[in-house]
Amino acid sequence: MKVLMVCLGNICRSPTAEAVLRAKLEAAGLAHRITVDSDGTGDWHIGNPPDSRSQRHAAQRGYDLSALRGRQVAEADFHRFDLILAMDDANLADLQRLAPEGASRAEVRLFAPVEVPDPYTGGAAGFEQVLDLVEPTSDTWVQNLATRLGTS
Ligand code: 4NP
Repeated sequence: MKVLMVCLGNICRSPTAEAVLRAKLEAAGLAHRITVDSDGTGDWHIGNPPDSRSQRHAAQRGYDLSALRGRQVAEADFHRFDLILAMDDANLADLQRLAPEGASRAEVRLFAPVEVPDPYTGGAAGFEQVLDLVEPTSDTWVQNLATRLGTS
């Protein structure tokens, strides 16, 4: 099973969600059955590492974002991934617009029950808020994915 996290820039929210869900899948013994990736709807940060503030705040909670690099959503993603998870309503609308006509593999939905606010132009509290939302939501996704795999 393949899961893709999507935000706008792919340097703050979606790399954070990628690293946190991967760590939680590893802890649950499911990492060998589920791959997690991330990209952005925008193209500004292709090839760039995550925002240094995202890296720092995530590292304080034990998540290493340093090896991740920015990518942009492509139509092929809708065929490669089973689940595409948008961080906010604008990301979801962009994904729905980019989705290929007709059937594709991916189920596209919001990552969390609420939007994950974009921290890019704000202060440290915004980056903490991202982690405060992403950590428990990733726990819920581990349960959800385990059920989908029939291992729960
Ligand atoms: P992200 O945050 O979507 O969580 O990665 C942003 C990063 C960069 C920009 C916007 C949002 N930007 O406009 O460059």
